[in-house]
Amino acid sequence: MDKSLLAKQMNNLKSESAFQVLAKAKKLEADGKNVIHFEIGEPDFDTPSNIVEAGKRALDEKYTHYTAAQGMLPFREAIVDYAKKYKNISTNPEEVVVVPGAKPIMYFTVTALINPGDEVICPNPSFPIYESLIRFVGGVPIPLHIKEENEFRLDVEELKSKITSKTKLLIINSPANPTGGILTEEDIEGIADAVRGKNIFVLSDEIYDRIVYEGSAKSIATMPGMKDWTIVLDGFSKTYAMTGWRLGYGIMNKELAHHITKLIINSNSCTAAFTQMAGIEALKGPQDEVLRMIDEFKRRREIIVDGLNSIKGITCKKSPGAFYAFANITGTGMKSSEMADYLLEHAGVAVLSGSSFGSFGEGYIRLSYATSLENINRGLERINDAVEKLLK
Ligand SMILES: Cc1ncc(COP(=O)(O)O)c(C=O)c1O
Repeated sequence: MDKSLLAKQMNNLKSESAFQVLAKAKKLEADGKNVIHFEIGEPDFDTPSNIVEAGKRALDEKYTHYTAAQGMLPFREAIVDYAKKYKNISTNPEEVVVVPGAKPIMYFTVTALINPGDEVICPNPSFPIYESLIRFVGGVPIPLHIKEENEFRLDVEELKSKITSKTKLLIINSPANPTGGILTEEDIEGIADAVRGKNIFVLSDEIYDRIVYEGSAKSIATMPGMKDWTIVLDGFSKTYAMTGWRLGYGIMNKELAHHITKLIINSNSCTAAFTQMAGIEALKGPQDEVLRMIDEFKRRREIIVDGLNSIKGITCKKSPGAFYAFANITGTGMKSSEMADYLLEHAGVAVLSGSSFGSFGEGYIRLSYATSLENINRGLERINDAVEKLLK
């Protein structure tokens, strides 16, 4: 089809490299090549069985119809209780909006708030969909340079220097994809002080907030005066290994919740009823499986980070959250995208180029360690051999 037939803003919409590299890797596999997958940010664990049973039960009990567009009340009530317990956020069901996966909260927030020319301050490197959506609606992404020497946390002074009269939204993500960095309580306080009283909303992507190995992730919504200006984004994909169920939610002020519900009515109508019932079990049921998964991720983090640091030309910080190793490859002399291509084609290892998360990700590759220890060890061996060959 001729591209000129598309709406103009389609030119501004980007993809997510994880899905592109996965497709490339699958093609190599179809051609008989063996590939170790470090590209996709998806827990390799199965959804805990109590959650699966709740989903099946819901189907048997005929939860097969439309629900309220904003989400079923018992599910939103469970989210309210969960937000109090795990995020220390006091909210109510009117401020909760249920969506299929966490990503739609990004889409709906940016669509609901950003006019052409509005500025959105956004970490760089960060989840690529933020910048894609900002550009899609004609907004202007203003990058915040996330640096390794600052433990991959944003710099509050830099944030202050980027705020203008056009700033409409700030996006934060802690623990972060792709770096695993976590904002400290002091950072959160500083960020709140920087934006408070300036009509700036904060989209706080908290999808990894249970996957923490050291310290803790604090929500900016708990800061004085910030709750009504924060859109908390969270979901079930990572914490409960439920990527394919497509279940997530936002917590925001009641008026914004109303407008975002209108966007839902104009797009997906509602989230599947039986997945919402499974979500209630996830939030209210035993959490042992979550803790077991986090323990396992922690074990893998030790192996992958130590392994990467033992490879000539590569260094890697042991980041405190999420399940990503963001490895510095500047010592190899290769560009990030070249290294990602080289490893996939010559070593059968799928990783993501740091630059696919923003220009300041150049010099890095991202490896998801949501895969078995056996794969991690085999993948590390392959990377080591391939890089050794390169540096000879
Ligand atoms: C930072 C971040 N936010 C949101 C999402 C999207 O989650 P979901 O699959 O539930 O839409 C991801 C998925 O990779 C992510 O890394």
